[in-house]
Amino acid sequence: MCSIIGYLGNTAASHLLVKGLKRMEYRGYDSVGIAISNNDKIEVRKGVGKVAEVEATQSLQALDGHVGIGHTRWATHGEVTSKNAHPHKSSTGQVAIVHNGIIDNYVELRQKLQSVGYTFMSETDSEAISNMLQLVYDRTKDVKVSMMETVAALKGEYSFVAIFEDGTLAAARFHEPLVIGLGKTGYFVSSDVLGFAEHTDEVIYPDNGEIIVIGSNGLQFFDFSGNPMRHHITKVSKEFADAYKGDYAHFTLKEINDQPESMVKAGENHLNEMDKIVGLLRTSKTAYLTGSGTSYHAALVAKHIFLKYGKLRIEPIISSESRFYPDYFDEQSVVIALSQSGESADVMETVRIARSRGSKVASIVNIMTSSLVQESLHSVGLNCGPEIGVAATKSFTSQLSILYKMCARLSTDFNLPDFAEISGHMVETIASQRQIQEIARELKNASDIYVLGRGIHYPIALEAALKIKELAYIHAEGLPGGELKHGPLALVDSNVYVIVLNPSDSTHLDTLSSAHEIKARKAKVIGISDKQSDIYDHWIRIPHVAEPLSPFLEIVPIQLLAYFAAIEKDADPDYPRNLAKSVTVK
Ligand code: F6R
Repeated sequence: MCSIIGYLGNTAASHLLVKGLKRMEYRGYDSVGIAISNNDKIEVRKGVGKVAEVEATQSLQALDGHVGIGHTRWATHGEVTSKNAHPHKSSTGQVAIVHNGIIDNYVELRQKLQSVGYTFMSETDSEAISNMLQLVYDRTKDVKVSMMETVAALKGEYSFVAIFEDGTLAAARFHEPLVIGLGKTGYFVSSDVLGFAEHTDEVIYPDNGEIIVIGSNGLQFFDFSGNPMRHHITKVSKEFADAYKGDYAHFTLKEINDQPESMVKAGENHLNEMDKIVGLLRTSKTAYLTGSGTSYHAALVAKHIFLKYGKLRIEPIISSESRFYPDYFDEQSVVIALSQSGESADVMETVRIARSRGSKVASIVNIMTSSLVQESLHSVGLNCGPEIGVAATKSFTSQLSILYKMCARLSTDFNLPDFAEISGHMVETIASQRQIQEIARELKNASDIYVLGRGIHYPIALEAALKIKELAYIHAEGLPGGELKHGPLALVDSNVYVIVLNPSDSTHLDTLSSAHEIKARKAKVIGISDKQSDIYDHWIRIPHVAEPLSPFLEIVPIQLLAYFAAIEKDADPDYPRNLAKSVTVK
């Protein structure tokens, strides 16, 4: 999604803002801009592209002044153009805003504002905020009141930061993230701690439905009715300032390589919380796992593990679908939300629905300061460090690791996997990347890739297809092997590649039969297995492990394959087009 940042202090704002935006670029990266308030005037510079590109053409850091706001955009309303890039000034230019989220009633607000003479330069929903602020400010000359009346008029989910011509910085939060950094030289307001982590580890998390005003009276918090609010200062982990890719060409490659270590560490610093969630699973009548994208795929693997080895039925729910099935949840349910960011709007909505129906909510999440943690009774941290690459990699194997650890705590029939051994096998698998790179060179021209997996391998087939789509921009579909003959086989011909997830376990012979059916239709077969077969055009060897553990190993070569195919296609694997790391809109 978009990232927003603001700074007010006694040092030049523009370079702090640009640096912060670069750190948060994972959230959105189609256009960039900053606005600085100086000598009672607001100046805006913005453009299409990544921060470094816009910086090069617009000299963002040349703007002078100690108060400013900045934005990287992930387009929702309005195309990717300079005009639609943020910040947006009000039509009289005394207020500018940056916004993350969606204003549902922007058409109505726009018409109302136009009818009293305000003009609009962009197609965005966001511009309604700056003009609304201006409307109230013209009447009251009071920033707090302008903020209160504006949030009262807005419908939707949002956070925004505004600068006023007099140099006041103000912000509001409603179901979108916002964090305040207390730096030595001044105050930061940001979507993510990463926006200012190198300047301070002292932060305040405003509650949902709060207004922040930073001006001549210092830093003040109010609820939407204008009542003052107080907050504790929280110290955040320094590791979140440590988002560097080291010697790796891309964050995605670094994060794939982090997995042998991150997967072992997953959840280890929250063992008590893990026990509490297992306690909830034991005592609840119905149990659900929810998540989006990759996190949902982790839920599907967990369903299999808990049912087959833990003898416990847990129903996975795609978060974006939950609003259509609210009857799922009741007082006797536990809902475990899986999310790397802890901010996905669909996951947050599911959690709210579950809570409103009296269910207990717990979470497995990477960002322990996220909204999801705030809404959960208990949370276990992935503990895998920042995941900057937009495509989820290490967060997936860390989610699996925690879910397996929970299953082992729940059931005496399921032994805790030897994670050190899996880690060693992962290292071996990563070491075969030269061969994978060769295959990626061939694969880059494929128009369609099918990934087949049976049983526990099916969710990995789904995850594999997602990685190939996101990173390599190739149409890919994950299928349960047995379903091939029920339809998809009609599409298989010599232009198609099929990846079979085929370790030597209970699914092996059936999947080998599918490989034969595919080969008979002249498609190319890539086998991911510990066992060679003549049927494979390419064999990617993975070490032999017990059946429930193979997800940890078979996803790694696919992540690498998708990464190298992206490189071959000259795509940026860290920032795939049209996507964002933290999807905070519905
Ligand atoms: C896939 C990917 C997305 C996320 C999804 C959920 O590589 O990154 O599908 O998995 O948007 O995000 P979180 O886990 O942050 O809720």
